[in-house]
Amino acid sequence: MSAASLLLLLLPLVSAQTYHWGPCPTAKVQPNFNLQQYLGRWYEIARLPASFERGTCIQANYALREDGTIRVLNSGLDKNKVRAVEGTAVVRDPREPAKLGVSFSYFSPYGQYWVLTSDYTSLSVVYSCTDILRIFHIDFAWILGRSRILPPETIRYAKNLMIGEGIDLSRMKFTNQTGCRDD
Ligand SMILES: *[C@@H]1O[C@H](CO)[C@@H](O)[C@H](O)[C@H]1NC(C)=O
Repeated sequence: MSAASLLLLLLPLVSAQTYHWGPCPTAKVQPNFNLQQYLGRWYEIARLPASFERGTCIQANYALREDGTIRVLNSGLDKNKVRAVEGTAVVRDPREPAKLGVSFSYFSPYGQYWVLTSDYTSLSVVYSCTDILRIFHIDFAWILGRSRILPPETIRYAKNLMIGEGIDLSRMKFTNQTGCRDD
């Protein structure tokens, strides 16, 4: 696919996303990332706008498949209906296990899923950035918690870490995690 057609393809998405001039910031990721400990359920605490996400009670569940890929199940409530989408994550380079790729369709390329930091038991900070011809970039960022609510100082820590990596969080919004159906 030519760069120009890629740009045309992406333009309709751009308005709903966060985009900035220039190439992606080069964020540092979690050293010695342990995928096994990372698996399981994470609740979305806050995110940068993403057109593919809406509603409340958003959570992700990561499980190892027999073929070594990771099953990603994102779910949430939208107008009181459960919405779920399944995808696949892979470690692309075993030397950098915190740099995962995630895809939600056979036809879509793997998007970045970089774990900037995680203690595995309470907090995960995830960043995703796509360079468009190095002219501009579209990025996503998530603060995830093992519980639906994180203490304000944990959220502050997560935000400061991302800001320190040059990530613009001015459009970051909290995810509504109240009135959820607990299972
Ligand atoms: C969060 O969602 C619940 C249930 O849908 C709703 O009652 C509440 O008003 C929402 N809170 C905010 C801050 O939007």
